[in-house]
Amino acid sequence: MTTFKMQNKWSIKLGVAITFWLFSLHLISAHNVKSPTALSVKEGSGDHSKGEVKQLENEDPEDLEVFTPTDKWQTLKPGHAVPAGSHVRLNLQTGHREVKMGEEAGLKYGSDGNGYSNRGKKYSTINTVSYSYVFFFPLWCRQGMMNMHGPSYTAEELKEALKKIKEGMNDPVDTKQEEDAVKAQFRPIEELKKDMEALDMLVETDVQVMRKLLNQFNNTNSTTDEKVTALLDLEYLVHQVDNARNLVSMGGMQLVINALNGTDIRLQESAAFVLGSAVSSNPSVQVEAVEGGALQKLLTLLATQRPIAVKKKVLFAVASLLRHFPFAQSHFLKLGGVQMLSELFQTPGAEALRVRIITVLYDMIIEKELISQVGMDLIPDSSHQERLRQYGEVSLLPVLAEQGWCRLVPELLASPEHDWREKALRTLLAMMAQCHTQYKQNPSLTASLSELQKQYQELVLTEQDLGEQDGYFGEILALVDSMVVKMQQV
Ligand SMILES: *[C@@H]1O[C@H](CO)[C@@H](O)[C@H](O)[C@H]1NC(C)=O
Ligand SMILES: *[C@@H]1O[C@H](CO)[C@@H](O)[C@H](O)[C@H]1NC(C)=O
Ligand SMILES: *[C@@H]1O[C@H](CO)[C@@H](O)[C@H](O)[C@H]1NC(C)=O
Repeated sequence: MTTFKMQNKWSIKLGVAITFWLFSLHLISAHNVKSPTALSVKEGSGDHSKGEVKQLENEDPEDLEVFTPTDKWQTLKPGHAVPAGSHVRLNLQTGHREVKMGEEAGLKYGSDGNGYSNRGKKYSTINTVSYSYVFFFPLWCRQGMMNMHGPSYTAEELKEALKKIKEGMNDPVDTKQEEDAVKAQFRPIEELKKDMEALDMLVETDVQVMRKLLNQFNNTNSTTDEKVTALLDLEYLVHQVDNARNLVSMGGMQLVINALNGTDIRLQESAAFVLGSAVSSNPSVQVEAVEGGALQKLLTLLATQRPIAVKKKVLFAVASLLRHFPFAQSHFLKLGGVQMLSELFQTPGAEALRVRIITVLYDMIIEKELISQVGMDLIPDSSHQERLRQYGEVSLLPVLAEQGWCRLVPELLASPEHDWREKALRTLLAMMAQCHTQYKQNPSLTASLSELQKQYQELVLTEQDLGEQDGYFGEILALVDSMVVKMQQV
């Protein structure tokens, strides 16, 4: 008899342990796959219908189904991934997760009180959007747990919950035996409660989790390690539009911004990471961050001596803050941002950051260019006019020429990396009007171009031998050729 009980007891323990283990796997896998599986999604310029996001280059190793949100709430199935920037809510009646497009509307902002409106889907003109994936806890699990809140659940409820967990998990442990074990109810109720509370913790709402993380971060008793952990967990959550907005309304954004000029380098780094993720594809949060003084603090970090790892995250935050936000861009110019980037570009030891720096600049140039091109095949509306006016105030190209970028960008051509060269060539072409004279007077640029021309002509042949007509090397060669031709023009 005793032996039987013991066996049952162990089988329960084993069952619970396996359950926890599976739960952890879920969480771990959710955590791991998030950022590295970013996909590139292109929207055709001038394509103005929301939700018609064409999906390219989908090589997700996890082979997830990607959900395309529309402007209506739709039910999300377990295992669906949603693009960053979507709204997700839990329908408490049905227990289902629902998702819709992130809104760009409703945002008003103006440096001069005129109001800057993001109405009108202008973002579809920008051609590349990075999507990161957020995974959801299986629904049956939430549903099972949802009824379990509070300390007063009955043994019957516990049993039901455990059953649901097992059914959902396809637990390899013999189900019948498990159920019998639960029925036997020989474990002290307190012990069971503890397990259930632990499970409960896994399924609390994002807002609850964020509150806890903020408290942990804000608590003077927390160690730096604990604070960094809290920030990294927050970073995971703020990829969702609503979580990022909640971060603002909970006062967390200001805490994060304050950490940027705090005393601890590791906190500066993690804070910049959280900030960058929170403002990505999230216009209203971008506004809050800039108003909270984030840009100034980030630039201070860029301009002062910091480890490369910190600068990398700071650069990420700066790029996210500037993207599609002309007000921040002109602010950036006024604060001397371009000069800080020039200095960083030339800092010995910071070579790894060079392509990122160029990318920030290139993206700004192209963004403005695309906005003005779109104007031509559109019936202009007032918000577009306002947008044009705001981009009109971002006068980046002359500043780039003034700060020596006509000379700096060619340096990147010496890199052995194809994608660095590609980025450099595109940037060189984008600066052609301002830099033409300087390019012509730069003998080492001429030399690198003819060297690259030779190299890529050969590589294109190799590509063609492999049956590839429009390969990557061909693309780079076209850029090199274009540079050579344009430099010869008067
Ligand atoms: C920090 O710890 C002290 C002593 O352990 C405690 O009295 C205090 O309430 C704690 N402060 C916070 C903010 O938790
Ligand atoms: C952070 O802690 C301070 C006091 O220690 C408190 O006044 C403030 O409200 C807290 N902020 C947040 C966002 O929790
Ligand atoms: C950080 O900057 C704020 C002003 O933006 C200032 O009030 C605060 O004292 C600074 N903190 C540190 C540690 O320098």
